[in-house]
Amino acid sequence: MITLFDREKPVQDDELVTSSSGTAQLSVAAVENDFVARVYEKLASVYDLAFGPALQPGRVAAVKRMAVQPGEHVLEVGVGTGINLSLYPKACSVTAIDFSSSMLEKARDRVARMGLRSLRLLQMDAADLKFADDTFDIVYAPYLISVVPDPVKVACEMRRVCRPGGRIIFLNHFLSPNGMVSRVERLISPFTIHIGFKADLDLPAFLSQADLQPVSIEKVNVPRIWSLVTCVKD
Ligand SMILES: C[S@@+](CC[C@H](N)C(=O)[O-])C[C@H]1O[C@@H](n2cnc3c(N)ncnc32)[C@H](O)[C@@H]1O
Repeated sequence: MITLFDREKPVQDDELVTSSSGTAQLSVAAVENDFVARVYEKLASVYDLAFGPALQPGRVAAVKRMAVQPGEHVLEVGVGTGINLSLYPKACSVTAIDFSSSMLEKARDRVARMGLRSLRLLQMDAADLKFADDTFDIVYAPYLISVVPDPVKVACEMRRVCRPGGRIIFLNHFLSPNGMVSRVERLISPFTIHIGFKADLDLPAFLSQADLQPVSIEKVNVPRIWSLVTCVKD
């Protein structure tokens, strides 16, 4: 973990490494919503098997880190099959969105099966959230930001709908700071988009372009190549 919730001491740029340029390209791979939608229509039936247990420690760490207080309202962006929904405390309310009808159908089945309450599932594009400014206490994107065509636009929307002082949280794999590994990630990214994500999203460039200053960055999952990035809206 780099720095925790000390707003006087934001994470230093040199601790974020890789790209120092705010205008750096975020990824070598480009996708469009239609392409992503088609990939997830195909993935829906196998998603939990393929991406469930391996990525679960990060999901658990994220909910622990967000420390949801009773009565708080969480927005989950890119809810997928609803794999996170049982992790939230009962005393909060959760709104969850996704643009894939196949993934949402799985999430609806899960909600019904588990009898989850205080929950709204909505079909929506993360880059065009249909909520008023400052609506949510916590806005959380688990394993979404390297999937969307325009991560900066999605981050701006997440910040817009988060109340001042609220938490904006990303759980994701980002480009490695190791030169050799990052070269491999850039090489494979045009292929990994076919299984749902870009392997080479540049975290420092993303945060800089989205004008977000993280208050903590923790490494999660095994191997520890995924990051839990917490920001607080000014
Ligand atoms: C890798 S899955 C993550 C699912 C879940 N959050 C998890 O923890 O496993 C990414 C999800 O984002 C959704 N998604 C991709 N682009 C989106 C967009 N522009 N707006 C809303 N959802 C999107 C996909 O349909 C998919 O369900």
